[in-house]
Amino acid sequence: MSALDAFDLPTSPLAPASPLAPVSPLAPGTRWSTWPSVAKGQRGPQPHPDWIVTAVAALDTELGVLKTGKEADVHLVERAIPAGAVTPPGGARWSLLAAKRYRGAEHRQFTRDDAYSEGRRVRRSRDQRAADDRRSAYGRSVRAGHWAQVEFDALCALWEAGAPVPYPVQIDGTEILLEFVGTQDDDGAWVAAPRLAQVRPDRDLLAVYFEQARDAMGVFARLGWAHGDLSPYNVLAHGERLVVIDVPQVVDLAASPFATQFLHRDCVNLCSWFTARGLDVDADALFADVYAQAW
Ligand SMILES: Nc1ncnc2c1ncn2[C@@H]1O[C@H](COP(=O)(O)OP(=O)(O)O)[C@@H](O)[C@H]1O
Ligand SMILES: [Mg+2]
Repeated sequence: MSALDAFDLPTSPLAPASPLAPVSPLAPGTRWSTWPSVAKGQRGPQPHPDWIVTAVAALDTELGVLKTGKEADVHLVERAIPAGAVTPPGGARWSLLAAKRYRGAEHRQFTRDDAYSEGRRVRRSRDQRAADDRRSAYGRSVRAGHWAQVEFDALCALWEAGAPVPYPVQIDGTEILLEFVGTQDDDGAWVAAPRLAQVRPDRDLLAVYFEQARDAMGVFARLGWAHGDLSPYNVLAHGERLVVIDVPQVVDLAASPFATQFLHRDCVNLCSWFTARGLDVDADALFADVYAQAW
């Protein structure tokens, strides 16, 4: 018997090999943090925000369902280092994540594969070529129906370009983990930020929100994209800040003859909501403003 046999080492492929990790059986609804097991390219853009929990000793715990949908379910997950676990100093110990779990690659609800094709035939700067490379990878994922990958890649590009989207923490198969956008209610329970459709902002905040929405659409356009499903249901109102979500169907404005129609529909959807709330905005003016930023 070797010396190693005397120790109760974790044998699950998910279990981190670190001797610092707890070795007790995992409670139901709990798994080892998947951060150490996903490859570098499956993690969000650098630098990683300081709230990201990277320790191998961290556990992911299911806290509940945020929403079930046709293509995906969204769950609230806590990623935290258990009390008492010995870890190297530094690094975040606790975080909340939204886990968006797609129902599988075979579940293809989208019909916009043709909306994508390779980029424009003009001289490109190095940054633009990097963006093109991302877009090529994006196109491959679209054609394969890998919607988790498509959404993750789009979120990474959007985040790096400064769009108000949840930070994309990692992708693991059909699951993407995102920064949780929400707050604690009076009873201490965590609740997702309301959708724009659910809030009744006063006039001042309404105007602030509209500027943010227009700026956000501008970031998409400068990447050459329209959101493609922008509506008051895919924008979260996090206090005074809007956060745009649900981006697997972004469309390439340069590549598709239908893309401008998607962009126009996005403008109409948003402006209808703002107009109904009493802000005098015009969808065609928004469209012209945003579209002009794409070139
Ligand atoms: N990062 C997040 N933080 C908080 N809640 C989220 C987040 N992402 C999604 N949600 C919640 O899950 C719902 C569905 O997410 P969404 O990406 O729009 O998926 P679907 O394709 O089902 O519409 C959202 O309306 C919101 O309530
Ligand atoms: Mg949605």
